[in-house]
Amino acid sequence: MKPGISVVGSVNMDLVFRTPRMPAPGETLSGHEFHEIPGGKGANQAVAAARMGGAVSLIACVGADGFGRRSQQTLQQDGIDITHVRVADDCASGVAGILVCDDGENSIVLAAGANARLSPADVTAAQDVIGAGKLLLCQLEVPMETVQAALACAKRQGVRVVLNPAPVQALPEGMLAQVDYLVVNETEAGQLSGVAVQDVDSAAQAAQALLGRGVGAVLLTLGEHGVLAADAAGQQHFPGLKVQVVDTTAAGDTFVGALAVGLGQGLDLRAAAAAAQYAAALTVTRLGAQSSIPQLAEVEAFRAHAG
Ligand code: RIB
Repeated sequence: MKPGISVVGSVNMDLVFRTPRMPAPGETLSGHEFHEIPGGKGANQAVAAARMGGAVSLIACVGADGFGRRSQQTLQQDGIDITHVRVADDCASGVAGILVCDDGENSIVLAAGANARLSPADVTAAQDVIGAGKLLLCQLEVPMETVQAALACAKRQGVRVVLNPAPVQALPEGMLAQVDYLVVNETEAGQLSGVAVQDVDSAAQAAQALLGRGVGAVLLTLGEHGVLAADAAGQQHFPGLKVQVVDTTAAGDTFVGALAVGLGQGLDLRAAAAAAQYAAALTVTRLGAQSSIPQLAEVEAFRAHAG
């Protein structure tokens, strides 16, 4: 039985330039190549959950343009229910300009477009879908009031909530107490907890501070240094997996989608985090967002080989 996962979040077309390095301010730099790749944190997490075996519904908003149509098509090819992906007639789809350097690091600039139109009314229209799922996934590329409405909708119906607070920003009072699983990177954890995350010890302190603010569990991703899982039962650090880094875009999104499917299948926090780490590690070996998210069989083969 596939676990039902709903995602309230963004859909972007990623305009990706591969470059030797980041340009300096005012500099014109010749890049290697250009790609248009479907992305957006909400859509990426939906795709990851679908490829890992979830029955996924996406609640989102796109523009009535080519990018929006292409995004919808690729989501459907992954078997995602897009009944609640609304088309806004009078604005452009969300776009992300992404620079990916030879060392795999990236920089991203967003133009929210139709993502800014996703409203609490869209959440209300999808409340039965959210209530029928095991977990709800949210990020912060859509309006905060919409995220608040989604969390409230899930909590009312007894659905567990995963929040990935990216791009990081101040959260409304009380929001963290509604979150069952908070997935953060070092920057996000530092900003939300007030503890600068530099290593596993400071990550543990930041996670403890976030648990103190009412979060059920914290998954703190540390890039090449792995993942820290923390809840009331204690903390566990999973060291990083050794892979050839091509592009880190969507690694966090893959982790979130895979984590949700594991939790929805009944795995405990630590088992779900361990499985999700393998999926995310494969993502960084490939270019792009949805182009890099692996299928379940690839993750299983990678894990069997690594183990
Ligand atoms: O997390 C990666 C995503 O962030 C990209 O796909 C881009 O669209 C931005 O939303």
